[in-house]
Amino acid sequence: MEKRSLKPQRGFFPQPTYLIGTFKDDNTPNFALITWITFCSVKPPMLMFASRGKKLTRELVERKGMFSANLVTTKMMYMADYFGNTSGYEQNKCEDIGVEYSKGNIMNVPILSESPWVYECSLVDIIEQGEGSIYIGEVKNILADKTIEETLYGKINMTTVDPLIYAPGQYYKIKEGIGAVGYSKKDNEDS
Ligand SMILES: Cc1cc2nc3c(=O)[nH]c(=O)nc-3n(C[C@H](O)[C@H](O)[C@H](O)COP(=O)(O)O)c2cc1C
Repeated sequence: MEKRSLKPQRGFFPQPTYLIGTFKDDNTPNFALITWITFCSVKPPMLMFASRGKKLTRELVERKGMFSANLVTTKMMYMADYFGNTSGYEQNKCEDIGVEYSKGNIMNVPILSESPWVYECSLVDIIEQGEGSIYIGEVKNILADKTIEETLYGKINMTTVDPLIYAPGQYYKIKEGIGAVGYSKKDNEDS
């Protein structure tokens, strides 16, 4: 493939979508849409997300030292888009669009009833970088919807869970799995 250089920028980058949940001081839940998110440790399990600019979520995560990371499904797209374009400083976002939530089993974090897969995290580190910060949370508990029969790593049926995917400017849906991880090695062993 012939390539051309582009100016350094964020560019094109497919990402998962999560709603990061925190409680305000008056116990109102607040959620922000975060797509800069990934795992960074297996033992103990830790995930990290990046956030830039002035956001209530950043302030609350830093002060309370905990957060929930709620997987977004395609059915939750409207909620996610609203939470990603509305500041918790000005609005009670859950009340605005009538979203149901409960409290975590281990941590004092809000859990979205509609999310099928939620991490309860304790903040372990903040790394300041560029114009924002990376927040690292240790997973203390996972709340998985009972309809997800197989919950082991690598066994979850993504087309059933139907996570919402983001790439700059647009939301997407996963249509099908097209190959099991490690299949290239198996082919070599067989031949
Ligand atoms: C598609 C999408 C993805 C986003 N991803 C991030 C992200 O990864 N990090 C971030 O800091 N903000 C991200 N945002 C912006 C926040 O969700 C947004 O600023 C939100 O209003 C913050 O709410 P809060 O002030 O209640 O924390 C994203 C917004 C959208 C619409």
